[in-house]
Amino acid sequence: MTLRTTLRQVALLGAASVALLCASATAQAPKLKVGLMLPYTGTFAALGVAIENGFRLYVGEQGGKLAGRELEFVKVDDESDPAKATDNVNKLIKRDNVDVIVGTVHSGVAMAMAKAAKDNGTLLIVPNAGADAVTGPMCANHIFRSSFSNWQPAYAMGEVAAKRGAKKAVTITWKYAAGDESVKGFREAFEKGGGQVVRELNLPFPNVEFQALLTEIASLKPDAVYTFFAGAGAVKFVKDYAAAGLKKTIPLYGAGFLTDGTLEAQGADADGLLTTLHYGDSLNTPRDNAFRLEYAKAYKLQPDVYAVQGYDAAQMLAIGLKAVNGDLGKKAEFAAAVEKAKIDSPRGAFTLGKNHNPVQDIYLRQVVGKENKVIGVASKQLADPGRGCRM
Ligand code: PHB
Repeated sequence: MTLRTTLRQVALLGAASVALLCASATAQAPKLKVGLMLPYTGTFAALGVAIENGFRLYVGEQGGKLAGRELEFVKVDDESDPAKATDNVNKLIKRDNVDVIVGTVHSGVAMAMAKAAKDNGTLLIVPNAGADAVTGPMCANHIFRSSFSNWQPAYAMGEVAAKRGAKKAVTITWKYAAGDESVKGFREAFEKGGGQVVRELNLPFPNVEFQALLTEIASLKPDAVYTFFAGAGAVKFVKDYAAAGLKKTIPLYGAGFLTDGTLEAQGADADGLLTTLHYGDSLNTPRDNAFRLEYAKAYKLQPDVYAVQGYDAAQMLAIGLKAVNGDLGKKAEFAAAVEKAKIDSPRGAFTLGKNHNPVQDIYLRQVVGKENKVIGVASKQLADPGRGCRM
C-alpha cells in the first residue's frame, strides 16, 4: 500500500515536471521576428497602415501568438521608393535577422524585395503590390502573395468594358510596373472583346499634375477611359476628372484601387464609378461582416481591400507556421501547407495558384455613397497566368 502510494506520487511528480518543462519550453520559444516593410509616408501611406492594421487584427484574434510563438515587429517605412528598396530590405534581412518579411504596396519596391528574398532564402509574403513578376519569373517556394497580380483586376475590367459596348478606350496611369501591367491586362481583354486602346497616357509616379492629360482625353473623345491610380493620387484623379467635366461624358473605369479607402475624400465625385476588384464593401457574408465589425471596433475605421490583404497575409503565415510547428526552417513543408490551404478570407475563401498568387473572384463594384457596392462578379475564380514562373 505504502509502496504503491509512493510509486503513484513519483509518477505524478514526474508528470508535473514534464508539464512544467513543456510550459517553460513554450515560454522560451523565441519570438517570431516579422519585418513589416510598408509605406508609412507618401501617396500610399494610408495603404501601409491598413495592411498593418489587418495583419495585427488577425494576430490579435489568435491571442497574439501564431503556432505558439509570440510575434515581434520590426518596421521600415519604404516610402514607396524603389531607389531605397534594396537597402531597406537588406536592413531587415541582415541587420535585424527577421524570420519573415511582410511587404509591400508599391510594385517597384516589391520586385527589389523579391530579389533579396530569393538571394537570401527569406520568407516573403506580399500583402499588396501586384507586380506580375513576383508570381511570374521571380516566383519561388518561399514567396507568397495575399493580394492580386496587376493583371487580375485589369483583365476583368477589360472584359467588362468590351461587354458594355466601348470600342475605343484611352488609358491613363503612373509610369511604373503597376500602371504598365494594369494597362496591359486591360488591353489584353478589351482587345480580345473587340475594343481598341487608342492611346496610353502616363505620368511619373507619384505625380498628380493631371490637367494636360485630361485635356488630351477631352480632345480624343474615347468611349471609355481605363485607369490605375491608388491612394492619395486616386483621390485627386477622381476629383480632377469630375472637375474637368469628363465624368458626365466619358465613362471612367478603373482597377478598384481607384475608389478603395478613398471614398470619404472623393465624396460625390466618385459616385457611380465602376471598378473591378477582389473585394467590395457590401459582400454581406457572415465572414466579412464579422471581420468588418472587429476591424471597426479595433481601429474606429472602416476596413478596405488593403486591410483584408494584411489580415490574409497573417492567416497565410499562421497556416504555414502551424504545419511546421513554428519552425520556419522547414520551408518545403511550410509551402506545401499554404499551397493546399483554403484561406478563409473576408473577400471569400481563396486558394493559391501554383505561382502562389490568389485564385479569386473579381467583383464588379459601383460607388454608391461611401460604399463600393458589389453589383456582380466580373470574373469568377480568376487565376493569374503566372507567365514565366517555373516552380
Ligand atoms: C502596386 O504598385 O502594385 C500597387 C500600388 C497600390 C495599389 C495597387 C497596386 O493600390
